[in-house]
Amino acid sequence: MSKLLNTKYSGNSTIPVRKMNFDFTDVPKNYMNGSLAKSHLFDGLNLLFPEGERFFMRAVRDGLNKIDNPDLKQQARGFFGQETQHAIEHEKFFDVLEQNGYTFRRKLNKIDKFILKMRDVLPAGFRLSLTAGAEHLTAILGAATLNDEDIEKSHPAMRDLIQWHAIEEIEHKAVAFDVYQESNGNYLLRILGYIGAIVFIHSVSNSLVEDFLIQDGYSKKEAKRLIKQTHKEMLANHQGLGQALRAYFKPSFHPNNFDESVLLEKAMSRLGIA
Ligand SMILES: [Fe+2]
Ligand SMILES: [Fe+2]
Repeated sequence: MSKLLNTKYSGNSTIPVRKMNFDFTDVPKNYMNGSLAKSHLFDGLNLLFPEGERFFMRAVRDGLNKIDNPDLKQQARGFFGQETQHAIEHEKFFDVLEQNGYTFRRKLNKIDKFILKMRDVLPAGFRLSLTAGAEHLTAILGAATLNDEDIEKSHPAMRDLIQWHAIEEIEHKAVAFDVYQESNGNYLLRILGYIGAIVFIHSVSNSLVEDFLIQDGYSKKEAKRLIKQTHKEMLANHQGLGQALRAYFKPSFHPNNFDESVLLEKAMSRLGIA
């Protein structure tokens, strides 16, 4: 079971940084309500999180250096703290995947090297637009996970890991967006970054999910079919997801146009965090 070690506010940031201590002992392969495909959907994202979140932090830090907004700088401190904790807990889960017999390190090393290369070669504005787009994605997927029956019925440590991360993605959802708007603000680049983030996360995590399913004994064709079916089910169970995905294309979009306060309050009280 999970345990909240402590909650701290960095400077004057209103975004809390919570240190968690998840115990992943005995998490089975099919921890997501008995479904291997759904568990792997999260496994794939889990592998991308640590290096991806370090990419996001770097992009936000570089964007902040170009602007003079003390409030946003304070909020960003909470964002950095939360993303750092996410990377730590998700990296811990890598060991569970290995204990359950999966191999993924070689491919993951290549993916991480690619992310690091992009960090070094892409222009700062584009890195930040990718980050703002990815943060919209994690916030709306986070809201969906707080309202998902399969996650509710999954292994308690995994349910708590996913929901804790989801809560915090919603809490800091506007930080990268606001830094982008203030340091660059170009609409076309914002959309380009969003599409780039979706294409990258979707294709790379699907390829990892496919590898996991093949290691479970499925053929490549069956794995692809299962992934498609799982995505379809997810969209059917979360009717608002399509609309939330499209909302980012509006020139007047802002992450705070979505109000998840009721969802947040409920999830936080169940997890026993404030
Ligand atoms: Fe995160
Ligand atoms: Fe985030």
